Amino acid sequence: MKKAVISIFVLFFALLMGSAQAAGNAAKGKEKAGMCMGCHGAQGVSSNPLWPHLAGQSAGYIAKQLADFKSGIRKDPTMSAMAAGLSQADMENLGAYYSELKPAQGAASSEKLAQQGERMYRGGKAEMGISACMSCHGPSGKGIPPRFPSVSGQQAAYAEKQLLAFKTGSRSNDDEIMTRIAFRMSEAEIKAIAEYMAGLH
Ligand code: HEC
Ligand code: HEC
Repeated sequence: MKKAVISIFVLFFALLMGSAQAAGNAAKGKEKAGMCMGCHGAQGVSSNPLWPHLAGQSAGYIAKQLADFKSGIRKDPTMSAMAAGLSQADMENLGAYYSELKPAQGAASSEKLAQQGERMYRGGKAEMGISACMSCHGPSGKGIPPRFPSVSGQQAAYAEKQLLAFKTGSRSNDDEIMTRIAFRMSEAEIKAIAEYMAGLH
């Protein structure tokens, strides 16, 4: 009995500390973000179509990506170099900082492609075994923190590059969720859905 009570307390404190660590400190994150602004923008909204917006992204997702770049599970020469010097606390602080910034308001550059993309985003494609993107990324693309990232207003060229990377397996840090989905999508479907997500809010 005594043992059970003690282990409940231990579990309670472990959970408490875990959540305090996972929360991150946005003010400390802001101090570190100076070295990120050149590419991800002063407010987490980037101007280069291949550099993702970070503003409003889930804190847990950002911290995970930074850890994945550092460990090498997710490969990108620029970001691996950037993440190499970050501690686990830095990653959580940066995640907290960027998650609180105002998300970008993008727009699809082609209405026709966006309409095609919307069909799959909302309904999936049953005959190909593709689940609706909405079920994990949310009806307005805001994601479900901490695991499922926001895709709302993201740069279309960046999103397209990621989906192609999941399709070919060159990005494989996703526990096989996205690689399995993107493998079944055509390049045209990927392009259309990336346009749709850019204008989704
Ligand atoms: C020289 C430009 C550059 C700098 C500086 C830079 N990044 Fe990046 N970042 C990129 C590029 C390019 C990508 C996309 C990589 C890819 O295509 O997979 C990226 C991707 C990311 C991602 C993944 C986003 C997602 O939606 O999956 C995160 C998180 C990130 N960067 C955070 C940071 C942080 C934090 C810093 C500062 C410590 C930083 N970056 C500095 C260029 C840069
Ligand atoms: C079962 C849940 C699930 C479904 C359904 C799903 N996704 Fe994802 N998606 C994820 C997860 C989890 C990640 C993050 C993987 C990681 O940790 O790197 C992700 C990542 C992404 C990314 C990369 C985001 C970034 O910033 O780099 C894009 C783009 C994306 N998904 C698009 C889609 C599209 C389009 C569909 C529908 C065709 C879809 N997803 C369906 C779970 C899902």
